[in-house]
Amino acid sequence: MSEPEAILAAAERLLLQRAPWQGKNVIVTAGPTREHLDPVRVVTNPSSGRMGYALAAAAYARGAEVVLVSGPSDLPLPFGVTAHRVETTAEMQRAAQALVKRADLVIMAAAPADYRPAKPAATKRPRASGAITIELEPTPDILSSLERPKKCVVVGFALETGGDGLAKAQAKLREKRLDAIILNDAHEPGAGFEVTTNRVTIIRRSGEPIELPLLSKRDVADKILDAVEQSLT
Ligand code: CTP
Repeated sequence: MSEPEAILAAAERLLLQRAPWQGKNVIVTAGPTREHLDPVRVVTNPSSGRMGYALAAAAYARGAEVVLVSGPSDLPLPFGVTAHRVETTAEMQRAAQALVKRADLVIMAAAPADYRPAKPAATKRPRASGAITIELEPTPDILSSLERPKKCVVVGFALETGGDGLAKAQAKLREKRLDAIILNDAHEPGAGFEVTTNRVTIIRRSGEPIELPLLSKRDVADKILDAVEQSLT
């Protein structure tokens, strides 16, 4: 017998699939990326991947063909979703760029590492050598560099920690040429990394921002898909 999660996901797709999503190619990125200092040490962040995995499951339930480009994450792959596993930001960029050519919708929920060691060591750095200074260089900005087909809808996330999150997210929406951006505040209890809930504001190119209450990440995912559904038709 199939696993109960698989039966539930298949039943959900039978019940929830709807015209704008059927046959659509959706790419979701999720999780952190890792940049090696040496073979056993990395620069990374605490992203769990939950928001991206929830988006992938929600898009599959609506009838889309979904590819999840995932950085390191312990989460089980949602039923019906194709996985493309990566480790570094450069690998995530290459995967996203290759997949975007056929995509109708790209959602960048990943938290890629923005910096990597400029000169990663080929062997483990010995602790005995005392204090070390590590030079970091910027990784590629995946969204900004993405060469996407004209019809492809692109959604980003903005993880902010200060009071001016709305203005910063709006600037990222413009600079990264997005159709929508999902603002969340890493300092807010129950939102952001490593939790099963999130509280976000959906900002589109036009129209008022949509402020959502604290919801499960799956419910947030469905609200985000509702907000972009019109652009897919
Ligand atoms: N992003 C990306 N490539 C990176 C870093 C981030 O494509 N190297 C994407 C994220 O997946 C997210 C959006 O860009 O959809 C905004 O990410 P965020 O971390 O909020 O902002 P940054 O662009 O990294 O800028 P800053 O760290 O200065 O806030």
